[in-house]
Amino acid sequence: MTIEKAVNIEDLRRMAKRHLPRLCFDFIEGGLEDEHGLARNERAFDRHALLPRYLIDVSTRVQTTSLFGRNYALPFGIAPTGIAALFRRGGDLMLAEAAVKANIPFIMSGASTASIEAAAKVAPENAWYQLYAARDLKIAEDMIRRARDAGLSTLVLTVDVPVNSKRERNIRNGFVRPYRLTPSIVLDGLRHPAWLIEYLRHGGLPVFENWATYAPAGASAQQVSDFVSAQTPSTQTWREFEIYRRLWPRKFVVKGIMHPDDARRAAELGADGIMVSNHGGRQLDRAPSPLEVLPAINAAVGDKLTVMLDSGIRRGSDIVIARCLGAKFLFVGRATLYGTAVAGTRGATRAIDILRDEVDRVLAQMGCPDINQLGPEWLWRGGEPAPIPPQQHRQFAAD
Ligand SMILES: Cc1cc2nc3c(=O)[nH]c(=O)nc-3n(C[C@H](O)[C@H](O)[C@H](O)COP(=O)(O)O)c2cc1C
Repeated sequence: MTIEKAVNIEDLRRMAKRHLPRLCFDFIEGGLEDEHGLARNERAFDRHALLPRYLIDVSTRVQTTSLFGRNYALPFGIAPTGIAALFRRGGDLMLAEAAVKANIPFIMSGASTASIEAAAKVAPENAWYQLYAARDLKIAEDMIRRARDAGLSTLVLTVDVPVNSKRERNIRNGFVRPYRLTPSIVLDGLRHPAWLIEYLRHGGLPVFENWATYAPAGASAQQVSDFVSAQTPSTQTWREFEIYRRLWPRKFVVKGIMHPDDARRAAELGADGIMVSNHGGRQLDRAPSPLEVLPAINAAVGDKLTVMLDSGIRRGSDIVIARCLGAKFLFVGRATLYGTAVAGTRGATRAIDILRDEVDRVLAQMGCPDINQLGPEWLWRGGEPAPIPPQQHRQFAAD
């Protein structure tokens, strides 16, 4: 099946599952512990229904959204996803290219396998940088300086990784430190020859390029990875927040805010935006979904900074629902990563096209010619249908 035949994000997910060794696919797909958060993120969207209006001229539909003084073609962008090159060599920059093509933001991960400078070259207008602050404050400061000198418009500080979470799929697959090539990992690779050939052709383990300059000179990919593990995750407090805010001269966004009081504090300390996010259900398994906390956060800070959201978006209608509930802009993590893993830039573009087309059709069907008109009045307030049993739910259906 070619990537263009993928009808929805779920198709891309299945294609990625076939293409990647289990260890890689599970790294993308997984949550942590019992994966309650993962399921909750997606189910949160199902609790809302859209109330259509008809006999309205919807012959043209607008998705253009203005964000931080710039017009993006779509109401969503690409969330930061680490070690993309493990799934597709050059994956970070392929995501960046797809973002340029679609005119949407691309957030380069703090655990990326390409450099800030390379992202700025490929996507000078579209790339943002997400900071995973190092234990050594000087490294974080230098990364901020590099992103500034490269001309990036926006810095994103991720705050929801105080420690590494318990990702049980990775533990079972042996994808934990110290990395060891076990017979089952080798067999897993051999069963996915297209992925394996590409992996070996490019010299095996990809390098965390942003970190390589801080590791000892001549460090191998493995040694750079060890260095990153020694430096992150690091304890961050509002004190560090203030330092980074002071150092960064442009738009400053905090990712991972879930409590209205934290949102208020971020606004008071000068954040331009927050991303309401539970890291795609990857950090605290018993956290609510971002969609559930969005209305309270909006009430607290909606007039003070830009409220954005990610986690669980698999459909255009999810994007529309989040906009109705007050999120100004959305981000997707897994959706574009599945596409990239399968077919590089073309795959990421396919994911974006699918979501664009779905948003477009939903807007037309709702009688809403411009996404910027959406608000809570477009949501049905009459109660919920009976819950769908988990085994029939979306991607939890049998593959
Ligand atoms: C494979 C993978 C890697 C990720 N790496 C990062 C990262 O380096 N930095 C970060 O802030 N968030 C990271 N995230 C979280 C995403 O930015 C985003 O919050 C999440 O994927 C959104 O949920 P969704 O995948 O359901 O769209 C990662 C997510 C995935 C799936």
